[in-house]
Amino acid sequence: MLEQNHGLLREAVGHAVLRPLSTPKLRNDYVLIRTEAIALNPTDWTTLDAKGDDGTIVGCDFAGVVEEVGDAVTKPFAKGDRFTGFAHGGNDEYHEDGAFARYITAKGDMLMRIPDGAGFESAATVAVGIGTLGYGLYHILGLSLPDGSAPSSSEPVLIYGGSTATGTLAVQSGRKVLTTCSAKHFGLMKERGADLVYDYRDPNIGKQIHKDTDDELTTVFDTVGVDSSAAICADAFGSQGGMYCSLLPVEVARKDVKSIFFLGYDLKGESYIFEGDTYPAKPEMLEWSKKFTTLAEKLWVEGKWVPHPVSVKGGGLLGAVEGMQRMREGTGPSGEKWVYRVEETEWLESSAEK
Ligand SMILES: NC(=O)c1ccc[n+]([C@@H]2O[C@H](COP(=O)([O-])OP(=O)(O)OC[C@H]3O[C@@H](n4cnc5c(N)ncnc54)[C@H](OP(=O)(O)O)[C@@H]3O)[C@@H](O)[C@H]2O)c1
Repeated sequence: MLEQNHGLLREAVGHAVLRPLSTPKLRNDYVLIRTEAIALNPTDWTTLDAKGDDGTIVGCDFAGVVEEVGDAVTKPFAKGDRFTGFAHGGNDEYHEDGAFARYITAKGDMLMRIPDGAGFESAATVAVGIGTLGYGLYHILGLSLPDGSAPSSSEPVLIYGGSTATGTLAVQSGRKVLTTCSAKHFGLMKERGADLVYDYRDPNIGKQIHKDTDDELTTVFDTVGVDSSAAICADAFGSQGGMYCSLLPVEVARKDVKSIFFLGYDLKGESYIFEGDTYPAKPEMLEWSKKFTTLAEKLWVEGKWVPHPVSVKGGGLLGAVEGMQRMREGTGPSGEKWVYRVEETEWLESSAEK
């Protein structure tokens, strides 16, 4: 028997409010999950502050337990299994998408089983990051997948922004990785396997990276994606140019460099509405995501990558509202992910239907 659902609903631009909710409808390629932990991403508050409908559920990253499985889900699931994944918070095309609630639905074939010994708190941090780095590094930039099918390459890759939640996962790609972060995170980058680390506050590092890669850098994944990072990356590329993939829509000002921006929401293979614009379905991305999450799950169990550092904050879903406010004010996480235990939420009295 399910308990009363509650979740963070968007009510006006910038406002997420805890409300009693119905249990979401289970679509046939989805899984009904009882969430145990949720983690914050920048998109949670930026989407909330952008154009959009009221009544959408907020938030993306979660870890929890399977309650019910839709008939069309192809990955093996059973009630009670522990999974992590991401939902599309603030999706105007389907208001019940979104992770920051006690019961949610999530696209079944994109979920990853949590390894034995890993907690819900750490597991809640991984799904947006894994999906994003997979899409950027392997699908767009075309690096060979770390599945043992290709010999490891000595070609360098620049992961700009190694201390972001996406960056710490991407630096563990097993390639020759150069990365940037503030000096306080140099130790973390070395632990995660980065070969060379540069302090992003020095505007000359682009030229230094160019020198250290002998004019041969052709591949850059920018997990920050602002004008200053694009400028550093422009200096870092070799004279033959290359490909620059960024998580925000900025471009490298060089004709010999192809700049590409993407949205990880494509991975569900469904159309969606993001900040007022409609994006068409890319069914091939669901197939890709299914394969990549299966590989990432295996490598996680084998200890080939570890999650981003975690800081568990208090207050459950209401704590997440405070966390989003801190991010909005520019005092958000630095080299760690903020996580909330869902059952720490002070639930509301309610008579809403289950
Ligand atoms: N397009 C997509 O599908 C997609 C997917 C995921 C994320 N994103 C976007 O990508 C960005 C990163 O997200 P995230 O969750 O991975 O990051 P995050 O964990 O929130 O990033 C925080 C880290 O960024 C570092 N940082 C800030 N400015 C930097 C700069 N100029 N150069 C190098 N590092 C810098 C900070 O380092 P210090 O504290 O040491 O300064 C901090 O450790 C966000 O804008 C997010 O909205 C887009």
